[in-house]
Amino acid sequence: MGDKEMKPLKYRILTYGCQMNVRDSETIAGLLEGSGFNQAEDLSEADLIVFNTCSVRHSAENKVYGKLGEIASLKKKRPELLIAFGGCMAQLPEVRQKLKKRGVDVVFGTHNIHELPYLIARAQEERNPVFEVWEKEGRIVEPLPSCRKPGLSAFVNIMFGCNNFCSYCIVPYTRGRERSRKADDIVRELEELATAGYKEVTLLGQNVNSYGSGLEEKIEFADLLYRANSVAGIERIRFTTSHPKDVSDRLLQAIAECEKLCEHIHAPLQAGSNRILQRMNRNYSREHYLNLVERMRHYVPGVSITSDLIVGFPGETEEDFLETLDMVERVRFDAAFTFMYSQRSGTRAAEFAEQIPLEEKKQRLERLNRRQYQIATEINQELQGSIQEVLVEGPSKTNPQKLTSRTRSNRIVIFSGGKDLIGRLINVKITEAKTFSLFGEIFAE
Ligand code: SAH
Ligand code: SF4
Ligand code: F3S
Repeated sequence: MGDKEMKPLKYRILTYGCQMNVRDSETIAGLLEGSGFNQAEDLSEADLIVFNTCSVRHSAENKVYGKLGEIASLKKKRPELLIAFGGCMAQLPEVRQKLKKRGVDVVFGTHNIHELPYLIARAQEERNPVFEVWEKEGRIVEPLPSCRKPGLSAFVNIMFGCNNFCSYCIVPYTRGRERSRKADDIVRELEELATAGYKEVTLLGQNVNSYGSGLEEKIEFADLLYRANSVAGIERIRFTTSHPKDVSDRLLQAIAECEKLCEHIHAPLQAGSNRILQRMNRNYSREHYLNLVERMRHYVPGVSITSDLIVGFPGETEEDFLETLDMVERVRFDAAFTFMYSQRSGTRAAEFAEQIPLEEKKQRLERLNRRQYQIATEINQELQGSIQEVLVEGPSKTNPQKLTSRTRSNRIVIFSGGKDLIGRLINVKITEAKTFSLFGEIFAE
């Protein structure tokens, strides 16, 4: 065999979108390493470039198309470069149509990630593009290899898919129907993570509250949390996302009782007007949400409540928008991800009349952000002088002389300290507060 054939091919993965994709990219890396690929230091060195894409908003898709154009021109100079394209965009027929002329060698979907090495081998052998996307989810493939970045914090899937069909959202179409992993498989993964030195896990699902439905064993999300809480070595447990329609008292009780469970609930409100919530098919009202906020604060004192908010949903009037602002005022979210509504073809809301002009959406977003950022800053300022338990993550990206860490409520705290603290839980005293981060000093009792 010549030298050329011996050399392992190098891959690079480009990940877009949510934590699900971050986690899927770790699986893709594991599968590729298992078939003899090595990770390339950077794109220019790669023999294979894998796109793991997101289609939740136009802006996400545009980023992918922009990058794909760039890579395709690289391929003109190096025709042997392989391009694989997967993730949520690949599930959409109109995207696949466009990909036919873009120099992509392999297209795979969210349901057949495990086939990727085989699809790449086929494309190489056939010297032709291979498009293989499953329209429907199969059974959960377990276990899949995975190549996680070494670190403190890991994502763990507990369920896949979504059954909620919010009228604006593409996710149920790209990720299929809801299905849960067996609790034993999840707990085993947590144990392995603890052995590998991970301290914090984030349990992932589009709607973690409905964990367990469809499983043979009778188990709810709250039960899973109790089991996760007893895994030795894991020190912090987070989860996302909770749908506000079904946060049970049992779940809140579990968060209160399990000492490793962080006091942070991401419960996206999306909009403040009942009329819009109904058109979004969210299945709750603003009154229900306010009651939920009361319950969350009752069971879990000091809980951090964060949200996603959409402005400019079709038909949203100035009055409707003011109701979103009013909810921001009443709830006082610790933080919120705010988005302009993006029309996703194939979803129900894309067909609604009264789409809101871009300029209007931009203005509403700006008004919303202005108020939300003020509130977040005020809440952060109230933390000045307090003592917070933080998990020390490493050198701060903005100032490598300092360390960056996270509170239980998921706030970033920057402080000075020795590298020996990395990976440890310590107490810091908050000395200064900004909108998105806090500053502190080590607190010695
Ligand atoms: N399952 C999660 C989040 C899914 S997507 C949940 O239900 O909360 C993350 C966020 O993207 C959503 O919460 C929503 O705020 C936003 N989003 C989804 N579709 C959107 C669209 N068409 N336009 C703008 N924002 C959207
Ligand atoms: Fe999308 Fe709604 Fe499902 Fe979340 S719950 S993924 S917003 S359809
Ligand atoms: Fe996530 Fe984007 Fe898909 S938000 S589920 S990667 S559409």
